[in-house]
Amino acid sequence: MSNPASPPAASVLAERPPLTFPPGFLWGAATAAYQVEGAAAVGGRTPSIWDTFSHTPGRVVAGHTGDVACDHYHRLDWDVALMAELGLKSYRFSVSWPRVQPGGTGPINQEGLDFYRRLVDQLLANGIEPWLTLYHWDLPQPLEDAGGWPARDTAARFADYATLVAGALGDRVRYWTTLNEPWCSAFLGYGSGVHAPGRSDPADAVRAGHHLLLGHGLAVPAVRAAARSDVEVGVTLNLYPVIPATDSPGDADAARRIDALANRFFLDPLLRGSYPADLISDLSRVTDFGHVRAEDLTAIAAPLELVGINYYSRHVVAAPAAAAPPEPYWRKPSCWPGSEGVRFVTRGMPVTDMDWEIDPPGLVETLRRVHEEYTDLPLYITENGSAFVDVVVDGQVDDPDRTAYFDAHLRAAHQAIAAGVPLRGYFAWSLLDNFEWAWGYTKRFGMIHVDYRSQARTLKASGRWYAETIRRNGLAAE
Ligand code: FCB
Repeated sequence: MSNPASPPAASVLAERPPLTFPPGFLWGAATAAYQVEGAAAVGGRTPSIWDTFSHTPGRVVAGHTGDVACDHYHRLDWDVALMAELGLKSYRFSVSWPRVQPGGTGPINQEGLDFYRRLVDQLLANGIEPWLTLYHWDLPQPLEDAGGWPARDTAARFADYATLVAGALGDRVRYWTTLNEPWCSAFLGYGSGVHAPGRSDPADAVRAGHHLLLGHGLAVPAVRAAARSDVEVGVTLNLYPVIPATDSPGDADAARRIDALANRFFLDPLLRGSYPADLISDLSRVTDFGHVRAEDLTAIAAPLELVGINYYSRHVVAAPAAAAPPEPYWRKPSCWPGSEGVRFVTRGMPVTDMDWEIDPPGLVETLRRVHEEYTDLPLYITENGSAFVDVVVDGQVDDPDRTAYFDAHLRAAHQAIAAGVPLRGYFAWSLLDNFEWAWGYTKRFGMIHVDYRSQARTLKASGRWYAETIRRNGLAAE
């Protein structure tokens, strides 16, 4: 729900001069398999943890599931035609693991793979660079039944799956990302349990995070070995600037803790080859990190060609309330193991329909931080976008708040480039309205409106604006 007291999102910007992006900047849009494909039981696909979770009463708003979603599986031609109409230079999609390797082990399912072959071929025929994500949260259910990401073997299964997909599509797909947002898979999936598989155990959440990282580290050389020689391999992280609500030492400590769990838990092993010492100490009540073998960190820090960053908002945090609740609060399901009492505060800034504060400067800070503190690698914004309530009037969707959100964040991206960040591309989230996880179909992020009853697609005003932005490789003065 949007906050009625906050000013309209379109007011975030005062002045908007024209801006041009570097030549070759990769303009794209993103989706994920479970969110758009539907065809859940078609062509040999078997259930993933999201099928099981969404079919469990009470897990997803209104009992929505991804059974049909945008029916993208059957409407591929139409959707690629829309991408071409937008003038996309790249399309970021994910492969459904249980579609191409039902059950998560064994040989490839040709029928499932054929869908992605057709997708990739159609993209290439339209001059759209395919950008493939191997894992956007849809773990095959039998692998969860065998322990899921808290089990070490899942990392090896993921590397096998990566080998299969890279062997099949690696000749045509140049850009590969292993995982999408491992923080969500680990800490929402196994910590708070608000995402599939819906388990809540702080130690399991930390183990899941490690095995996701290990799976990435094993998949990187697997992809490189099987794919074309100019392959570019990376990973996508959801990063947040984390700032204290006040300058009190307690709030500063809260910010350090949340930064460690949200950001450095992933950035440090991937780009420095070690877990941060303060994170290990913050988690001492939860785990002794006995699940980490020395050789894991070498694997996790496998050399990459790029880093993908998903950016939506910023975290503002405060120390736990002075009067702790009587029952130890850390027994409650939380996505912040070891730091369960930290409070998340809002600043009264404009928010999206997710209630996420709109904070474009946070994107500049995030990009600069990754570049200045971690790596010289090319960076890509692999997701950025906003949910707003849309209405179709006379076949049109006028969504100025979404356009303003894109505009403000692209200006922030440009500012980061001017500050020396090697930012090479931007993917709007999302191409289509889609299944927004625990929120089902109640949150619309698309540049294209989807009527879920008729499956009609309507290009929103923000989509037309984005097409124009791509065409001019930059932003007009407003
Ligand atoms: C990201 C997810 C993506 C979508 C957006 C809104 O965390 O990667 O699938 O749900 O949020």
